[in-house]
Amino acid sequence: MKDSEIRQAVRDILKANTHEGWSKKFRTEYCYIQPSPGTYPYQYFWDTCLHVFILTALDEHELAKKNILSLFAMQNEDGFVGHMLFWTRPLPAKATDFFQGRPGLNLFQPHMSALVQPPLVAQAVQRIHEGTQDKEFLRVIVPKLKKYFDWLAAHRDIDGDGLISIITPFESGMDWKPTFDEVVGFRKGVGNRELFWRVVSVDARNFLHRYKISTLVRRNYFRVKEVGFNAIYCQNLTAMAELCDVLGDPDADRFRVLARKVMNAMIEQMYDRDAEAFYDIHAKSGEKILVLTPTIMFPLVIREMPSEIAGALVRRHLSDEPEFGTPYPLPSVARNDPSFYPFESEYLWRGPTWIFSNWFIYQCLYYHNYREEAELLRKTIRTLIEQSGFREYYNPFTGEGYGAEKFTWSGLVVDMLNIDGGVSGDSESSQAG
Ligand code: GLC
Repeated sequence: MKDSEIRQAVRDILKANTHEGWSKKFRTEYCYIQPSPGTYPYQYFWDTCLHVFILTALDEHELAKKNILSLFAMQNEDGFVGHMLFWTRPLPAKATDFFQGRPGLNLFQPHMSALVQPPLVAQAVQRIHEGTQDKEFLRVIVPKLKKYFDWLAAHRDIDGDGLISIITPFESGMDWKPTFDEVVGFRKGVGNRELFWRVVSVDARNFLHRYKISTLVRRNYFRVKEVGFNAIYCQNLTAMAELCDVLGDPDADRFRVLARKVMNAMIEQMYDRDAEAFYDIHAKSGEKILVLTPTIMFPLVIREMPSEIAGALVRRHLSDEPEFGTPYPLPSVARNDPSFYPFESEYLWRGPTWIFSNWFIYQCLYYHNYREEAELLRKTIRTLIEQSGFREYYNPFTGEGYGAEKFTWSGLVVDMLNIDGGVSGDSESSQAG
């Protein structure tokens, strides 16, 4: 496939999945992109940010701005923005969505969920600014972002160490990630009905307590300091500082100081020197959860991360066959973990390869000068798309596509076509491995 054909295919998917209209309840226009109309019909928080990376790579900056403005249109007075915005169809599409709203009559009208998702939003706004130099847009959106990041720090940095805790697996954006198994009391193994009920009951309990954090903490419910969320949080605090710099806003300094605090806390609490990996932390006990997934490497997205740590992670884990070495890397959990299942399943993020993870780790490797390793991940993405189209996730051994079809985020490939040093021009095709 030529680069231009890939770009056109992605443009077509995003266009077909775009929804625009007028909300009577919120008295505003809205515009968002459904990740996949049948399976995921709402506006989702981190999906919207990923759509912005794709749209800006396609030079669709105005559409990108509209998506971000809609994401913040229901923002609460205290700064909170939920991970799902039900603009037109309040009732959940999937059983697992039901307990993710705050209980009340509002559930039957357009509303937001009560969960958060990884906060890629400051970088998304930065991308829009890089492409437009539109300071007016920044003057409108940055105050909303500041309130949002302040909400996260005030409500989710529960013990004041800088790290954010998530209160349900779904807040990681990697719904059934196997690190959470032991936290929900599931014995190690592939996903099944027992896992389903254990995870859904986390949401049901949170729902019954109306998502009141102080109660959830007092009762010692699900609380995890997840590596992926915190790496993205740290990276986006730096992006917040840079956005504030553009506006001459003195809050830049406090975002920079907080980013550094988060990075240091990640090294201190999550990095395991023997295993050479960043592990999720079970916040209740402070213990590391010893499961290898691609997020063990996510902190490398922080440019200031010491180079010895980067070297150790790449050398030890990346292409190691019992762990992440597959014909189509990166599997979403190490091959030798008992939860690993490479086929289609409702229990997402437990084996198959996601374009998102490759896109993310590509940046990590690229920043730390592991260009060859980065290139392998990019080639994999291209081959997967050429072979199996824009699917939600893929078999790491055969490349077969699974899950939602015409899935928008797999369009992140267009962001990689633009990265300096990458595939340039109209290359015809390429092979993984
Ligand atoms: C799945 C993903 C989640 C995403 C949602 C919509 O639940 O795990 O990260 O936001 O789909 O695409």
